[in-house]
Amino acid sequence: RDNQGQFPLTQNVTVVEGGTANLTCRVDQNDNTSLQWSNPAQQTLYFDDKKALRDNRIELVRASWHELSISVSDVSLSDEGQYTCSLFTMPVKTSKAFLTVLGVPEKPQISGFTSPVMEGERMQLTCKTSGSKPAADIRWFKNDKEIKDVKYLKEEDANRRTFTVSSTLDFRADRSDDGAVVSCRVDHESLNSTPQIARQVLEIHYTPSVKIISSSLWPEEGQSIVLTCESKGKPLPEPVLWTKDGGELPDPERMVVNGRDLRISFLNKTDNGTYRCEATNPIGQNSTEYVLIVHDVSNTLLPIIVIPSLTTATVTTTVALTTSTATSATAINTRDPNALAGQTAPDHALIGGIVAVVVFVTLCSIILLGRYLARHKGTYLTNEAKGAEDAPDADTAIINAEGSQVNAEEKKEYFI
Ligand SMILES: *[C@@H]1O[C@H](CO)[C@@H](O)[C@H](O)[C@H]1NC(C)=O
Ligand SMILES: *[C@@H]1O[C@H](CO)[C@@H](O)[C@H](O)[C@H]1NC(C)=O
Ligand SMILES: *[C@@H]1O[C@H](CO)[C@@H](O)[C@H](O)[C@H]1NC(C)=O
Ligand SMILES: *[C@@H]1O[C@H](CO)[C@@H](O)[C@H](O)[C@H]1NC(C)=O
Ligand SMILES: *[C@@H]1O[C@H](CO)[C@@H](O)[C@H](O)[C@H]1NC(C)=O
Ligand SMILES: *[C@@H]1O[C@H](CO)[C@@H](O)[C@H](O)[C@H]1NC(C)=O
Repeated sequence: RDNQGQFPLTQNVTVVEGGTANLTCRVDQNDNTSLQWSNPAQQTLYFDDKKALRDNRIELVRASWHELSISVSDVSLSDEGQYTCSLFTMPVKTSKAFLTVLGVPEKPQISGFTSPVMEGERMQLTCKTSGSKPAADIRWFKNDKEIKDVKYLKEEDANRRTFTVSSTLDFRADRSDDGAVVSCRVDHESLNSTPQIARQVLEIHYTPSVKIISSSLWPEEGQSIVLTCESKGKPLPEPVLWTKDGGELPDPERMVVNGRDLRISFLNKTDNGTYRCEATNPIGQNSTEYVLIVHDVSNTLLPIIVIPSLTTATVTTTVALTTSTATSATAINTRDPNALAGQTAPDHALIGGIVAVVVFVTLCSIILLGRYLARHKGTYLTNEAKGAEDAPDADTAIINAEGSQVNAEEKKEYFI
């Protein structure tokens, strides 16, 4: 008949262990001929819509003249194999579907880790995962950077279906690895592209390394200096030990150690010497030195320091003038101090001119002040004449006013 030449159609199925597999068998044209599914052990599972094997995990999905579909839930590794769909024509026609069951790798474990590890020691970390089918892939990373060419070992598990895979990382501990995160990554088709990762933070102990940092490049007498002893090491070396010329710090009043810092205040030439910072941790010790040379105070900056102290007094005004010109002269002659002598001659004229102007202004203001005072005395006098008749007192007042003017004249002459 019509379906004489036709074979049933099936498809291979891959399912993750514990999942559900659908087995589908189709026939395009069928004149009421029966369909059947049987398992790898040749046991009939379904004959049309009739269940043949007692197994709660196997259920009918659809049964018609054109299709027989069944599902197997909670699939185990032993369910793997070749399933057969048969169409009961004469002769019987069959089609095979292979059910592949994937073994899910267990969460990987890193072994061989000891903490802490001394710098220079050999470290062997092994990452292992069982239960994968097919064998899983293992990769190593250090701080997200892949480590290549690592040994890989594959063993069959006791069930003879899945595998235990392991990989061993072999390296010498270095201080730069302290705190690094080493991770073992397991990729497998059963993991839906979310790999299983085991991580291990390395702790590597190493001897201290020390460095002295000075707060000043040119320490001068009277200044203060801070020497910082930067020390690294695992465990962290703390505290650090400061010494001078192989002995204790000679002046604890001025030489104060605070944590890693040595602060020397009011530097003095006797502070010259070799300062040593020593750092010790349980692994070992290390030290470094700093040679301190205290320099003389440089004088060139002194006039500039005077300037902010200038105030209102007339005497200091002239001082301000000379210092300001002096600083302008030094500013010009910073490169060649010998040129200072040649420069002073034109400067004298300049200073003279400015002094003259200042004296003139001072004179004028004194005169104006004198007149002002005299006028006030005058008004005061007339007011008194109206109220009473203390003429002799007014005379003394005028004399006093004149006297102040004389004083001003004297002052003027003093200034010239
Ligand atoms: C199997 O068949 C059932 C019922 O039709 C359906 O719900 C399920 O999604 C199918 N599973 C797969 C993996 O195709
Ligand atoms: C197939 O079976 C249906 C009832 O299930 C029947 O009506 C039909 O005639 C049958 N066809 C053949 C070709 O035997
Ligand atoms: C189904 O799987 C078997 C066994 O793995 C294989 O030989 C066959 O070619 C596969 N068929 C298809 C259509 O993939
Ligand atoms: C001491 O520290 C220096 C750097 O600060 C380092 O190069 C050296 O290896 C250290 N010595 C020891 C014994 O660790
Ligand atoms: C420097 O120190 C020495 C000894 O501590 C002291 O005798 C001397 O007066 C100091 N000099 C100055 C300028 O402070
Ligand atoms: C300290 O060093 C300075 C600069 O080298 C030098 O002039 C001075 O004599 C030294 N003082 C002592 C006490 O060593």
